[in-house]
Amino acid sequence: MTMTNNKNSTAVKAPVMCVVGARPNFMKMAPILRALAAHVPPIPALLVHTGQHYDTDMSKKLFVDLGLPQPDINLEVGSGTHAQQTAEVMKRFEPAMDEHKPSCVLVVGDVNSTIACALVASKKNVPVAHVEAGLRSYDRRMPEEINRVLTDQIADRLYTTERSAADNLAREGIPAERICFTGNVMIDSLEASRPHARPPVDSLAAHGLDAGLVAGEYGVVTLHRPSNVDSAETLKSLLTVLGQVARDLPLVFAMHPRTRSNIERFGLQAMLDPARIAVLPPQGYLEMLGLMAGATLVLTDSGGLQEETTALGVPCLTLRENTERPITVEQGTNTMVGIEPQAILQGVSEILAGRGKRGRVPEFWDGRTAERIAADLHQWLGA
Ligand code: UD1
Repeated sequence: MTMTNNKNSTAVKAPVMCVVGARPNFMKMAPILRALAAHVPPIPALLVHTGQHYDTDMSKKLFVDLGLPQPDINLEVGSGTHAQQTAEVMKRFEPAMDEHKPSCVLVVGDVNSTIACALVASKKNVPVAHVEAGLRSYDRRMPEEINRVLTDQIADRLYTTERSAADNLAREGIPAERICFTGNVMIDSLEASRPHARPPVDSLAAHGLDAGLVAGEYGVVTLHRPSNVDSAETLKSLLTVLGQVARDLPLVFAMHPRTRSNIERFGLQAMLDPARIAVLPPQGYLEMLGLMAGATLVLTDSGGLQEETTALGVPCLTLRENTERPITVEQGTNTMVGIEPQAILQGVSEILAGRGKRGRVPEFWDGRTAERIAADLHQWLGA
């Protein structure tokens, strides 16, 4: 970025308050903070961690892996119902804003911390920038969909990851001049970390899976959506299918705390055959990247993994009926198989028969998105 690019705008003096709360936020924010610091002139930033995710596995380890600095402000809200968590973030974020008087509040993704901080800022007439705007599953039973729709309504600057997002936003009456297509910031983190990616070989060896790992013959599983893991019946059905898949392909299941506690609560532990399914705790970023990069396939209900597998060229079967990230299906390696056992097994057979999607990397998923965001933010805030 050169000075000439910025000749029409003045340096931003008050800090941009950059909010993270939950695991999927961290990989989005790390490159943004680096790009704000590297911008000429630098854009001052403060990192706020709401504490929505607080475990070492869910938070601290990812900070280290991603090179995120210690948060300047930690709100330590912890877990709760959606109302409690959202309200607690709002109550604690407001005085932090009063103290630091930001030029802008920058939020990413679609978690409860995203809407909570955007709402506080907007009521204080402080501009809100939303990174990963305009994604829609059109499924309002997903808590994230509510967070997306509402955050976009009150955001002043909306950075999108794929072109379809602008159409979604137009349908909701968001003026086109607020929207800026900058690409996918998750892929900035992926590209920066790729050379350091390393599968958790020791943990896998403990499960006797290291040989399969070397040969690249294993599948990776993550599941955490409430719709998949909060009902005993659905969870049981999904674990049955995983058991069937694991007969042909050993699986590595990086288990979210919500899923682990539900498996225990419903007494389903015995359904996971340790000889074929390695159950691991939530993985660090570099371990997860290493696991995915070497996998035959990924089975998931995560939004981020749908994108990361597309960038890595690894076939992904998404255990959901819809996706807010259609480009991963249209151009990438993602297939929506839903949660019907036959559809999942069929998807796995296709991939094992060598008919998995190869895909291509979408426009602006090039590792330089944060740079484009910083350049735009400078212009926009300086205008
Ligand atoms: C949240 C996000 C979801 C994101 C996911 C990634 C919302 C609405 N959902 O869902 O979009 O995909 O993070 O993980 O914001 N827990 C721990 N340790 C932690 C955090 C949580 O054990 O560090 C447990 C708690 O029992 C908690 C449960 O996990 O009640 C769920 O955490 P919560 O933040 O409410 O939602 P997630 O399911 O993680």
